This record gives sequence, structure tokens and C-alpha cells, in this order.
Amino acid sequence: MIVKAQSGDYMEEAKLLYSLPKLNYDYGALAPHISEALLILHHTKHHQAYVNGANAILEKMDKARKEGADLGMKATLKELSFHIGGHVLHSLFWDNLAPPSKGGGGKPVGKLAEAIDKEFGSFERFKKEFAQAANSAEGSGWAALTFCMKTKRPMIMQVEKHNVNTYPFHILLVLDVWEHAYYLDYKNERAKFVEAFWSIVNWEAANKRLEKLLK
Ligand SMILES: [Fe+2]
Repeated sequence: MIVKAQSGDYMEEAKLLYSLPKLNYDYGALAPHISEALLILHHTKHHQAYVNGANAILEKMDKARKEGADLGMKATLKELSFHIGGHVLHSLFWDNLAPPSKGGGGKPVGKLAEAIDKEFGSFERFKKEFAQAANSAEGSGWAALTFCMKTKRPMIMQVEKHNVNTYPFHILLVLDVWEHAYYLDYKNERAKFVEAFWSIVNWEAANKRLEKLLK
């Protein structure tokens, strides 16, 4: 049986499972850009479902290993990639948002501002490319700003579902453009949601991710 461990030497502990992270702000704090009802639904239902999905597969793997049973690796790992991708991306997403009254919106700061200017020429050009990536993601997906440590370049990534077309780079900033992320507030007008995103980006958090990488 797997139980959640708290601290100590991880080799001595029971195996860990994923858990839903708490938000750094109240559910109503991102309104009107993301309404309270939408944020509750998105966090407690959709994100929770990826946490549950990933944990169910981990438990299935443990059980199969214990019993010496066949896992069906291809299908299992495909499903695991989808659920872990959903969990990790949502966790990053909540953390790179902030209410406008608490630092959300504005422009990039610190080393991230410098990296964006160097790569894209200007913040406006970056915004345009990132919005185009978000608006043109086919079906369900994400737009992400990543950083390649080999080239020291920030690169935009357009993710299909939670795990397709990804580069194994470090993620600095993500925007969820699955319909569940905006439909309740914006109906089919994804572009309006993408525009609203700029008012609640936590640039400080995105810059901290980059500074940690460059240390
Ligand atoms: Fe989502």
C-alpha cells in the first residue's frame, strides 16, 4: 500500500503520491480575468483529476510489480505521461499567476526581461508570438515559455494535450488553453482569455524560475 510520507530519508519512507497544491491566492482573486467559479472548477475538479489519474497509474504499477504481472508498458506510460503532464503544468500555471493587486500583470522583470528582449527584440514581439502559440494550439493544449540551457535561449513551446510537442527544457511560464480553462467565462473566445492572461501573469515567479536555473 502506498501512503503519503512527510519527511526524513526518502529511501526509508513509504512511496509518495502526487497531491493537489494549494493556490497562493483566493479563488476570487483573479476575477474578472478568471472568475471564482471557473477557478474553483479548474483547480478542484480538472487539476485534481490529473493528480488522481497519475496516482492510480502509480498504484497500478506497484501492484503489477508486486504480483509479477505484465503492465502493458506502451499504454501505461502514454497514460502516465498525460496525467503527470497535466499535474505538473497546472501546478506551474497556478504559480505563475497573481492578482493584479498583488503583482500580476505588467512587464517581465530581472534576467527574464533581459532574455526576452535579447531573443525576441521586444516584450511586444514576445507577447505576439506567445499569444499566437496559445491561440493556434490545436484542440486542447498549452503555450509555454521555456529556457534552453545549451543555447541560453528562451523558447516558446506549443503543447498539445499535456505532453505532445514538448521540448525537455525548463519551463518558465505556462498558459492553459484547454477549453476547461476559459469556456465558463469566455465561451468560444479563446483569444479574449489569452489577452486577459497578460493582466494576471506573475512575472516575478517566472523570473525566479530563470534565476534559479542560471545560478
Ligand atoms: Fe487546465
